[in-house]
Amino acid sequence: LYSATFNILCSFYLQLHVIFLSCLSAPPRSKYFSVKCTANVQYSISPPTSGEDLSPTPLNGNSVLLISMSRASESENDSKLSVQYYGENKEVLGRAVLHLTAVEISLDVDADRDGVVEKNNANKGSWKWGPNGHGAILLVNCDSEQKFWNKKPDCEQDYVTKVSDLKDMSVMVLRTRGPAKLPEGYKLTMHISQGHAESVRVFRSTSPELHKTLSKFIYNNFVKNYPLVLSSEVLSQEVPYLGGVAEMKFHVEGLRFPDNDFDGLVTINLSLLEPIATDIPETPIFTDQVVFRVAPWIMTPNTLQPVEVFVCNTSDNNPFLKGMRNLVAKSGYKLTICPKYVNRGDRWMQDELEFGYIDSPHQQFPVVLDSPRDGNLQDFPYDELLGPDFGYVTRVAKREHVSSLDSFGNLEVSPPVTVNGKKYPLGRIIIGVAFPTATKGRNMTKVVQDFLWAQKVQEPIALFSDWLYVGHVDEFMTFVPAPNRKGFRLLLASPDAGYKLFRGLQNNGHGKAKMFEGLRDEKTITVDEIVDDENLQAQNNYVQSCIDWNRDVLKRELGLDDEDIIDLPILFMLVTEGEEESVLRAVAYYPDMVNMIVLGKNLGIPKPFGPKVNGRCALEAEMCSLMEGLGLSCTFIDDFATYHKLLGEVHCGSNVRREPFDFKWWNLEM
Ligand SMILES: *[C@@H]1O[C@H](CO)[C@@H](O)[C@H](O)[C@H]1NC(C)=O
Ligand SMILES: *[C@@H]1O[C@H](CO)[C@@H](O)[C@H](O)[C@H]1NC(C)=O
Ligand SMILES: *[C@@H]1O[C@H](CO)[C@@H](O)[C@H](O)[C@H]1NC(C)=O
Ligand SMILES: *[C@@H]1O[C@H](CO)[C@@H](O)[C@H](O)[C@H]1NC(C)=O
Repeated sequence: LYSATFNILCSFYLQLHVIFLSCLSAPPRSKYFSVKCTANVQYSISPPTSGEDLSPTPLNGNSVLLISMSRASESENDSKLSVQYYGENKEVLGRAVLHLTAVEISLDVDADRDGVVEKNNANKGSWKWGPNGHGAILLVNCDSEQKFWNKKPDCEQDYVTKVSDLKDMSVMVLRTRGPAKLPEGYKLTMHISQGHAESVRVFRSTSPELHKTLSKFIYNNFVKNYPLVLSSEVLSQEVPYLGGVAEMKFHVEGLRFPDNDFDGLVTINLSLLEPIATDIPETPIFTDQVVFRVAPWIMTPNTLQPVEVFVCNTSDNNPFLKGMRNLVAKSGYKLTICPKYVNRGDRWMQDELEFGYIDSPHQQFPVVLDSPRDGNLQDFPYDELLGPDFGYVTRVAKREHVSSLDSFGNLEVSPPVTVNGKKYPLGRIIIGVAFPTATKGRNMTKVVQDFLWAQKVQEPIALFSDWLYVGHVDEFMTFVPAPNRKGFRLLLASPDAGYKLFRGLQNNGHGKAKMFEGLRDEKTITVDEIVDDENLQAQNNYVQSCIDWNRDVLKRELGLDDEDIIDLPILFMLVTEGEEESVLRAVAYYPDMVNMIVLGKNLGIPKPFGPKVNGRCALEAEMCSLMEGLGLSCTFIDDFATYHKLLGEVHCGSNVRREPFDFKWWNLEM
């Protein structure tokens, strides 16, 4: 494009993206030059010259011509720029003419996050968090347009079967303006790196109505053909140039969630390629770039509005189901009972799955995270929940030992908090692991931990839960909504509060009151017997120290004061674990009231069967008085025989799908 031997370097600085079709050469002995051009063309000379450009200007050894064009060409070579060369006496020696064709190309996305693809956003090529941030968003297409037959997450197939699937994808528009066709040999290609192609697919819409904005015809909306443009097998593909003023629509599908090997960002490029010579690859003369971030999986804390409650019918659990049915009906939500042929006797609905959601400016739907636990309920998330606008994701533990800590009773999330000025408007994920100094112990598998940390927007907190026989954080903590302070309270199981209550009963003359009255197959025990059992007291001192350790972590990591925490009177006892000889771990001594279901202002609490005072259970009375101050209503559900005795309670046996946050995750300041 330049001819260094003739001392004029034609460098082209172009606002529009231009194809250079011919160039110029200055005759030998040239001493002056002048420039002329058509209306569409702007140029400048560097270093700047004095005087008018139309009169001969001295030709300097390193003069450079900078050219730009203000509008796209309507036809090939429709603009011109000519340079006239003069000799010593300003006699004309020759003329060079540049034929110019300008093509406007813009690959566009919804970089301002309003659900509409705007035109050539200046920030579309990068991604920034926060309300003043920018950058397009992509969903993992993890729901299934098929509800029954041949069901699988849509992202597992590399074609579009239903037009309804397009709403789960992000729209990308290629806007072009220029002559009817590109000059011979030039072409447009879309390309992506191998690493990024593992995470997305790009389909092109061939629907005619989408092609030309100037089209006068209204075409049928139903579209059959969405050719695959980019995938992990096709990293680069030519896309048609439509000519004139045109828009071509693409649909971008996310394939995987952020993880420890994927930060969530994906770049897609579109280039105009220029032919050099036959057998030599074309070179890009212009590249436009867009960046997407894959939406994270987000958990929903107890303070969000419930939508649907899930429990299992194991045919032996009728009292529990009756209690849950009443509570859910009273609260006005949907109750879904998983039948026995699906749960195959596995009643731990909390443990097999965690409900969350994914969100973007154009689409939002719930996504179930399936635990590697894989009890008899293992097919429930995939078979019963995956469907249109209901996504599914799982992590499979390879080689790693899956323990009880991989059940999702051990995966919770706090309400929104602010910690030392740092805001967590989506709360923080809470998991339980082995004590940090333990040389061996149970942990949540690395694949699940990696997944949770990689979502970034609910930065996890690891608590110590391995001291519990079952090992789940929901055995000693939960959150309930509150009208004041931070909008919630942390409830903690507290043996100290338990002993205080029992001693109080003893001191007030109720030492002979009995626990577990009215339960079949359960021996009663008096308040005196509990208080006087030194062994039990020692065990509970240990449990209290484990909970206190977690209490400190929670206070620090959630920015809580003591006033934000309520201690519930709950006693534990230590038992030996079957296989691992001589490891003592804790289980609840009576139904573990903190292991509750929270449905708005209604709490479904395991019925503790505590000692009665004046006909009323003292534990229930204490629980109610603690909760009533927060405007919460307690319903006690009998889970004794079919949950408590199997080392779980109401929360372990249920699950709640909740409304998503109003807060948009991309508005987080990171
Ligand atoms: C445009 O100009 C180039 C260079 O002169 C030439 O090769 C090409 O054929 C021209 N195209 C048209 C359509 O005139
Ligand atoms: C996309 O374009 C950017 C900037 O032009 C470049 O750094 C990157 O390597 C390109 N990626 C691919 C896959 O072409
Ligand atoms: C539970 O399942 C049994 C059959 O196994 C059925 O008779 C009973 O009605 C079911 N209970 C509820 C509450 O759905
Ligand atoms: C368990 O997981 C925690 C949190 O990720 C980690 O810090 C710890 O090292 C793990 N412990 C073991 C014994 O693997």
